[in-house]
Amino acid sequence: MKEAEGAVGYGKVILIGEHAVVYGRHAIAAPAPMGVRARAEDSKDGTELIIPRWGVEQRLGPGTKHSGALLQSLELILKRLELADRPLRIRVDASVPRAGGLGGSAALAVAVIRALDAHCALGLTDREVCAHAYECERLAHGMPSGIDNTVATYGRPLLYRRGEPPLIEPLHVAKPLPMVIGLSGVERLTARTVARVREAWQRDKSRHERIFDEIDALAMQGVAVLEAWDLQQLGQLMNACQCQLQALRVSSCELDEMIEIARANGAVGAKLTGGGDGGAMIALCPDDPGNVVRALQQANYQAMEASIG
Ligand code: PMV
Repeated sequence: MKEAEGAVGYGKVILIGEHAVVYGRHAIAAPAPMGVRARAEDSKDGTELIIPRWGVEQRLGPGTKHSGALLQSLELILKRLELADRPLRIRVDASVPRAGGLGGSAALAVAVIRALDAHCALGLTDREVCAHAYECERLAHGMPSGIDNTVATYGRPLLYRRGEPPLIEPLHVAKPLPMVIGLSGVERLTARTVARVREAWQRDKSRHERIFDEIDALAMQGVAVLEAWDLQQLGQLMNACQCQLQALRVSSCELDEMIEIARANGAVGAKLTGGGDGGAMIALCPDDPGNVVRALQQANYQAMEASIG
């Protein structure tokens, strides 16, 4: 990240492939038009993390064992960057919601790492930023696929598959996708939904592997469809992906209702995005995104138009 752009971490939407991506399948993700910006400065008063929009004002106590995920992540970053002994104040402006399925925790980690890099002149490469953020995701999620920190770092649409090294293939999207993002208003920790899917997978591996393979096939079809900017087809793939996510039981009443509303009001495709069981949904709306936004708002959901990609 160039300093002129500030210390930014991008939020993201997964167009196709959440959960299956944890099990080595492909997923397509793109940056969301919301993210996190951070600034670091020296402090006389110990190390502090301030995120007004998330209601966070926390201090790292020396020698204290922190239980909160945010402070644990910050501690990990400072240790990895060899800054544990330097008192710093880190202020964060987050336009991405917390625990909302839009990659907020990875965007935060990337923004904070970049802020520390800029302030302490560490000279980190994007690859190093991404690797440090992945370790924070591991702390928060247990077993992240790595897609969130990758999009949070590079801020562009991509096809992703975990591995050593992961496949990170930039996708060419001719024009931004006319989407609507709807927020269920229910915060969900991705760690919980990922753990629930894991338990279900352990109980019935062959059923879950079949679902993951279906999602993988949808993601692979999505690459060509996206590059051809065929929105009808992309919408159908998103709808098919939502069926598979329902089969994984990671949708919720609120998400299902928002998806129904979006489809009934002109969306050609709609699905949950991210961990699910709350969080956010995305709808592809070639004709009148405003109509879908209004319909969601009338049903008391927060919704916004978003040009994706
Ligand atoms: O809920 P989010 O924004 O953290 O997205 C999670 C995506 C998953 O595929 C469910 C997990 C992962 O690590 O890929």
